[in-house]
Amino acid sequence: MASTSWIVFGLICLQGTLGGLTRSSRLHPDWGLNVVEMLERQGYPVEVHHVTTPDGYILGMQRVPYSPGINEDVQNKPVVLLMHGLGSSAADFVNMGPGRSLTYHLAERGYDVWLGNARGTTWSRNHTTLDPELQDFWLFSWNEIGTIDLPAMIDYITETTQQEKIFYIGHSQGTTSFFVMGAEKPEYNDKIRLMAALAPAAYIPNLLSPLYRILSPYWEDLLPYFDEYSIWELGPHSSLIDTIGKTFCDEGIPYQEICSNLMFIFTGFSYDQMDANMIPVMMSNAPAGASIRQYVHYAQSIKEGFFRKYDFGMVQNLNIYGQATPPDYDLGKVSAPVAFFYSANDWLVHLTDAARTKSELGNVVLDHLVEHKTFSHIDFLFGKNATEYVYNYLFDVFEQY
Ligand SMILES: *[C@@H]1O[C@H](CO)[C@@H](O)[C@H](O)[C@H]1NC(C)=O
Ligand SMILES: *[C@@H]1O[C@H](CO)[C@@H](O)[C@H](O)[C@H]1NC(C)=O
Repeated sequence: MASTSWIVFGLICLQGTLGGLTRSSRLHPDWGLNVVEMLERQGYPVEVHHVTTPDGYILGMQRVPYSPGINEDVQNKPVVLLMHGLGSSAADFVNMGPGRSLTYHLAERGYDVWLGNARGTTWSRNHTTLDPELQDFWLFSWNEIGTIDLPAMIDYITETTQQEKIFYIGHSQGTTSFFVMGAEKPEYNDKIRLMAALAPAAYIPNLLSPLYRILSPYWEDLLPYFDEYSIWELGPHSSLIDTIGKTFCDEGIPYQEICSNLMFIFTGFSYDQMDANMIPVMMSNAPAGASIRQYVHYAQSIKEGFFRKYDFGMVQNLNIYGQATPPDYDLGKVSAPVAFFYSANDWLVHLTDAARTKSELGNVVLDHLVEHKTFSHIDFLFGKNATEYVYNYLFDVFEQY
C-alpha cells in the first residue's frame, strides 16, 4: 500500500512539473497574508483575542462575529470554535476564501465564529514567563492542548459571549485534543452543543502516510539528538520556509507544484480535490509550528496502537502517573454529541481506526463517511468539494442542536 502511494506521488510530481512548464500561473492575492489580513481583504470584521492559560501560555484567537451585511447583531448568536490540526493554525479555516472555507460559510449562516490557535503555533508563541526560544516552553504534547488550552479558550468564549454552550469543529489534532478534553475534563462536555469531528484522530495504528510510518518507530531514538541540537519544535513558520515558498512557488516557476506537493506526502491528497493554484496560499501560513512532543505522542500512538497519555518511559511514568505505562484516555467519557466525518482515502486516519474511535466515543449522533472515494485528510479543509461532501451535512446537523 505504501509503495502504491509513492508511485502515485511520483506520477503527480511528474505531472505537476510538466503542467508547470507549460502553464504560467499567477500568484493569488492572499499569498503571504496572515489569517487576519485574509479576512480583512475580504471585508470581514475580525477581532484578535488573547487568552492566558493557567500555566501561562498566551493564546491568540481570531473572532469573526458576523458576515458583512448579514445579521450584524452580535448578541445571542450561536457560537462556534474551530480548532486546527498538527502543524497548522487558524488559517486552515480561512485559506480557501468565501464560499469555500468554513469561517466564511459559518459567518454567513449567522454563527459567531472563533478560531483557536494551539500553544506554540504562530499566534500562540508567547508565555507570561517562559521564552519560546528555550526548551521549557516546548514541554507539552496534544495532551496539554486538550486539557489546558481548549478549556481556557472555551471558558473565555463562554464568558465573552454569555453563551452557556458552544459548537466545536475540530480537524485532525483538533479532534484528538477535543477527545482528550472530553475524557480528562468531562465537565466540559456540558459546555458543548455539538462537536463536529473532521478526520477524527484518536486510534491511528493503521495510518498509511509513508513518511509517518517510516519515522514513527524512530522518533524516540531521535529525542537525544533533538536535545543536543536544541531543537524543541518542528516546522515553525520561519523565514526559510517563506523563502523556499517564494522561490519555488512564485509566478511562472516550473517547480511550483512539485515542491508544493512535497508538503502533502505527510497527509495524502486527492488530485481531483486539490486546487493547485491555492497551494502557495496554504503554504503562507503552514507549517505554523508544533512541539517535538506532539509528533512523538502521535508516533507512540502509531507504534503502540493505544489512545493514551504521553509515554515518558517507565521510571518517569511511575513518578508522573504512578504506574509503569501511561493511562488510557477513556473515549466513553466524551459525552458531548459528536458528528463524525471521515473518508476512505485519508492517509492518516484509516477506516479501521476511525471505526474503533467511533465505537468507543460516548455519544456519536452522526456517522458520515464521505461518499467521494478519493477524498483525503486535507480535503476536509481545502478540497474543491468540501462544501458539498462535508460542510452541508455539518450545517444540517448543527441546525438540530
Ligand atoms: C507576550 O506577552 C507579554 C505579556 O502579555 C506581552 O507584554 C508581550 O508583548 C507579548 N509578546 C509578543 C511577541 O506578543
Ligand atoms: C465540485 O466543485 C466543482 C467546482 O466548484 C463544481 O463544478 C462541481 O459541480 C462540484 N462537484 C460536486 C459533486 O458537487
